[in-house]
Amino acid sequence: VRAVRFAGGALWALDQTQLPWRELELELRGAEDVVGALQRLSIRGAPLIGVAAAYGVALELFRDPDGLDDACESLIAARPTAVNLIHAVRRVRAAAAAHPAGPERAAAALAEAEALHAEEEAASEAIARHGADLLTGRPRILTHCNTGALAAPGRGTALAVIAELADRGEVELVLACETRPLLQGARLTVYELRRLGIEHALVVDGAAAGLIAAGEVDAVIVGCDRVAANGDVANKVGTYAHALAAGAAGIPFVVAGPSTTIDPSTATGDEITIEERDPDEVRTLIAGADEPRPLTVDGTPCRNPAFDVTPARLVTALVTDRGIAQPVTPTSVAAVLGRRA
Ligand code: MRU
Repeated sequence: VRAVRFAGGALWALDQTQLPWRELELELRGAEDVVGALQRLSIRGAPLIGVAAAYGVALELFRDPDGLDDACESLIAARPTAVNLIHAVRRVRAAAAAHPAGPERAAAALAEAEALHAEEEAASEAIARHGADLLTGRPRILTHCNTGALAAPGRGTALAVIAELADRGEVELVLACETRPLLQGARLTVYELRRLGIEHALVVDGAAAGLIAAGEVDAVIVGCDRVAANGDVANKVGTYAHALAAGAAGIPFVVAGPSTTIDPSTATGDEITIEERDPDEVRTLIAGADEPRPLTVDGTPCRNPAFDVTPARLVTALVTDRGIAQPVTPTSVAAVLGRRA
């Protein structure tokens, strides 16, 4: 699976709203195109959001040499929770701003986006190795949302760990939670697991706690959209419930992500902005399908937080490309970044 690629002056992105029904590529030629793709979740997953936004800055500069500030602002505003987006846009912005407006600036932005893309790919492999070493001997794994090659360059994050464990012959069964309301687990994780040939079963989100309590799961592993300095983790809504269930059952609850998802400037999970999305996503089955169907009484009021925060004390280990924080504390999280708490 190649979720995004840069070719012929455009960013080509597999449209994830259409998976698993259709494999269609979108051609994105400017920041506005990329913002739309991010907001629709055609491109999604924290590390991939960052990489796509980085290319978005470059694309805009090829289109409009004076468009740096506006492009960066609109890209950063596209999705508020995944911190990779802010980090990536700031990084490409700094590289571009070192050159006068014109072809040289656009080329510098593109080179920086390509460097970030390559770094995230390498990070995915390191996460896979560290995570598989940690979870060896735990063959039945539950995961949430989609954290594979559709969510991050390379093999992904949590799903990369699972893929590495499978390569080592250590996976018996993956339980994939469907991940209401947009079904990233049912649509995307199952699509990837099938392609990888890994034994799996799809479960509704509400089944996870009971299956964990019944002893059917040896470990839970998920990705992350932002890790605060104290180790609190924002991830796809529903993650916190899995952490509580794993804690109650005494099995590991592991979070995997690149070090670019750690945000030292966010002190605790309380400071993380949680994206609240369109209530129609909750009212409708299912966004992206050919004929979305109403799921409830017309106009029913809904809340639709896209993420929740799991406190650090419930996270057994944070697996990153730069090593593992365990236990997850301000000191161990800072150490992963080569800093002091
Ligand atoms: O809203 P999404 O689909 O972008 O949310 C994705 C998640 O929550 C993932 O678990 C997270 O980004 C980690 S992806 C490697």
